[in-house]
Amino acid sequence: MANVLVVDDEDNIRELLGRFFASYNHEVSQAANGARALELIKGGKAFDVVLTDWRMDEVDGLELLKAIKTDSPDTPVVLMTAYGTIDNAVTAMKTGAFDYLTKPLKLPQVQLVLDRALEVSSLRSQNRALRDVISGTPLLVTKSRKFQAVIEDAHLAASSDSTILLTGESGTGKNVFARQIHDWSNRRQNPFVTINCANISEHLVDSELFGHVQGAFTGAAKNKRGRVEAADRGTAFLDEISELPVSLQIKLLRFLQDGRFERVGGLQTIQVDVRIIAASNRDLIKEIAEGRFRADLYYRLNVISLRVPPLRDRPEDVVALAERFLTEAKTRNRRSRLRYSQDVIRIMMMYTWPGNIRELRNVVERAVVLSRGDTIAKEDLPDSMFDPELANSEHPPVDYSLDKMEEEHIKRVLLYAPTFEEAAQMLGITTATLWRKRKLYHIE
Ligand SMILES: Nc1ncnc2c1ncn2[C@@H]1O[C@H](COP(=O)(O)OP(=O)(O)OP(=O)(O)O)[C@@H](O)[C@H]1O
Ligand SMILES: [Mg+2]
Repeated sequence: MANVLVVDDEDNIRELLGRFFASYNHEVSQAANGARALELIKGGKAFDVVLTDWRMDEVDGLELLKAIKTDSPDTPVVLMTAYGTIDNAVTAMKTGAFDYLTKPLKLPQVQLVLDRALEVSSLRSQNRALRDVISGTPLLVTKSRKFQAVIEDAHLAASSDSTILLTGESGTGKNVFARQIHDWSNRRQNPFVTINCANISEHLVDSELFGHVQGAFTGAAKNKRGRVEAADRGTAFLDEISELPVSLQIKLLRFLQDGRFERVGGLQTIQVDVRIIAASNRDLIKEIAEGRFRADLYYRLNVISLRVPPLRDRPEDVVALAERFLTEAKTRNRRSRLRYSQDVIRIMMMYTWPGNIRELRNVVERAVVLSRGDTIAKEDLPDSMFDPELANSEHPPVDYSLDKMEEEHIKRVLLYAPTFEEAAQMLGITTATLWRKRKLYHIE
């Protein structure tokens, strides 16, 4: 089954192709003009192949082809041109069309071209996945508007030297994000130093962060540079910042103000040029209220605040991430033919992932090891995924009113059910009620 986009201003052509492709179980989207097609593509829907008419008002087939080649160069585009306009076909191929079909269309020929295009499309996407896995690029492509906005902000913020505070539940990818911001920034050639404030014992934090001079304390045999100094001209990532002892919060505050500090026991003031990214999975406002975190430090850190959303708020990304982790695990375990059963995909889409991306990654890894044959089956998933109590215990949904729960649930079921009618059936409501609720919650 593939996602096919048919673009043509003639209703009967769209219907003909729609019906034809649907009979092969493909999911067909239709657009009556190039502009509408672009909207669909920009809306985040990924198509495995696009078939487009040549002559259309506003955005014609050739312009559409160019736009797709820039945005998603791996998507094969097939142009349909009127019989006898061979020049068009040549231009199309030169511009990067996968192939062309002449009108009137002959269905066997359409099928042939589509099959070839889908094969190429799937090879290209496998290739891309492998390339990403090999280069270790995190999957920062998302279909969620909410997360897209965060990524855009991160992109913009990356080029500045402003301090960034990353918040979000455990396992949402804050470490991954911090590294990515560094790689997007002009500091990418310089060091990226991670300091995990939770891992350092209290009496060593100062020296770990800012270094010490010989004889500063028992065991300080020589001068030592701290991690902040090591990050000069680069980025220091202060992970789990809520765990920084109060005594050091003031020193960090001063450092954030003017980039200066002294090593432990040292008299000389050192100045460095370091961009700070801090992260916390705790509610820092609450930490302030309880006297564990300095408010002034919080405001200093919180110049640009990015909230990484929990995975349950972007269920539309679960499958892509799962496929990504599967590709990784397959490569490591030499199980190149392994794939998910349809059941497993559905369960993963419905689950709320309290442990977020980290949990998803672990689930996939475990399933790959446990699976027999070429298919990952339901039995290869951990029991905890089937226990609704357990699934929610780690992060009781704080801001979840019943309405919010209903909204989330409807969103998930709509993603999961093959048709609108089946979604209504699963929810135990009429399609009319589902329409109304969908409108009420602005679900697309
Ligand atoms: N966008 C992504 N693409 C691929 N893998 C990701 C992505 N985001 C997170 N991961 C993976 O998920 C796991 C958790 O990510 P990470 O350690 O960044 O979470 P975190 O938010 O820092 O969690 P914590 O608050 O517990 O420190 C890691 O294995 C990471 O590689
Ligand atoms: Mg982390």
